[in-house]
Amino acid sequence: MARIGVIGAGYVGLTTAACFAELGHDVVCADVDEGRVRALRRAEVAVLEPGLTALVERGLATGRLRFVRGNRDALAGRDFVFLCVPTPTGGDGAADLSAVHAVLGEGHLLSPDSVLVLKSTVPPGTADTVADVVDVPVVSNPEFLREGHAVEDFLRPQRIVVGGPAARRVSALYRAEGVPVVVTSTVGAELVKYASNCFLAVKLSYVNSLAELCEQVGADVEDVTAAMGLDDRIGTAFLAPGPGWGGSCLPKDTRALLAAAERAGVDFPLLGAAISTNDHQPHRVVAKLRDVVGPLEGARIALLGLAFKAGTNDLRDSPALAVADLLAAEGADLVAYDPGVLAAAGLRVVESAQDAARGARALLVLTEWPEFAELDWPSLAQDMSDPVIVDTRNLVPPDKVVEAGFRLVGTGRRNP
Ligand code: UGA
Repeated sequence: MARIGVIGAGYVGLTTAACFAELGHDVVCADVDEGRVRALRRAEVAVLEPGLTALVERGLATGRLRFVRGNRDALAGRDFVFLCVPTPTGGDGAADLSAVHAVLGEGHLLSPDSVLVLKSTVPPGTADTVADVVDVPVVSNPEFLREGHAVEDFLRPQRIVVGGPAARRVSALYRAEGVPVVVTSTVGAELVKYASNCFLAVKLSYVNSLAELCEQVGADVEDVTAAMGLDDRIGTAFLAPGPGWGGSCLPKDTRALLAAAERAGVDFPLLGAAISTNDHQPHRVVAKLRDVVGPLEGARIALLGLAFKAGTNDLRDSPALAVADLLAAEGADLVAYDPGVLAAAGLRVVESAQDAARGARALLVLTEWPEFAELDWPSLAQDMSDPVIVDTRNLVPPDKVVEAGFRLVGTGRRNP
């Protein structure tokens, strides 16, 4: 059992804290937000993350997990301190490290025999500069937690990456038998994180452009990607086209790596192209909708999905919101439904797909919630003025919606 401090109770910090407590460690988790800390002490978890509330409840009940406001108790007297603070996009696209620096300002509170672990995603070279300002070993240990699968990804990781002195001691905390542990330099570990997320982003932008090409030449993107995926070197994951990639990680990390490459004097056009391809996606969705519905001024459009992906209530950098903004700018009358989202600034959010569809000119599927594949199509069609579905995720069953009287426009395939 180790004494662990976790700084930051966002989805990464909270998952880290709750899972380490579950693994038997004694954990103090700190956050600057008083309201969040009070809620967490009552086991109220704001993020939609399967299994996390149960782990927080168990940690609180066993006394192995405590929440504190302010960093003191999570820094002092701990064997390992995990930094899980946000590193958002700064002015020039580079990661803004001010939250990291704020914590380092209290670095003197660290016990001399403790280890400081950087879990926040930080540009290559950050751990080395941090090591210059604190008197304890600094280890880089990036996270690979997908939102909506964070607990599962933490407790059953595909790999543990650790860089720097005391790396083995840090990897042992995970008690993950049989999981590959990659011990590297701190800068290597920092880069693994960016390189992985950026590779996924490049893969997705490739597929989204491929889908556009399929539409033009009359091929079906699902046939093409299914066949591509059978090649082990390519794999089937992350080949589904959509309205663009979003969330709190991929957009931020692609920009940050591009900025880091520029600073290092390295030309990385592939990454810039992946970003601009993605920036173009919401425009493509709106153009497609305009093609079927006509002028969007005053047109009632039902948005199905607001979150950046299914299984989360996270709206950060959601392509669905980018599409909504463009539609609003064209004067469309928007009504949205998302099973995980009750409210979104500037949007009318209703409680069911049926409510959203009432009087709408088109249903626009933006997030891949499984329930959107199983709606009551005849009833929805009946409530709409002109039953049209534009499906950016190829989620709805073509046969059923066509049978119910819908005109369907999918992504990267011929329309039925
Ligand atoms: C991503 C990475 O997948 C995690 O490994 C990483 O740990 C995390 O960022 C992070 O840096 O913390 P996440 O942001 O939760 O996880 O989202 P993803 O599941 O990667 O999805 C990203 C976007 O790609 C979403 O908008 C999703 O809808 C889109 N996507 C994904 C597609 O459009 N098609 C696909 O086939 C897969």
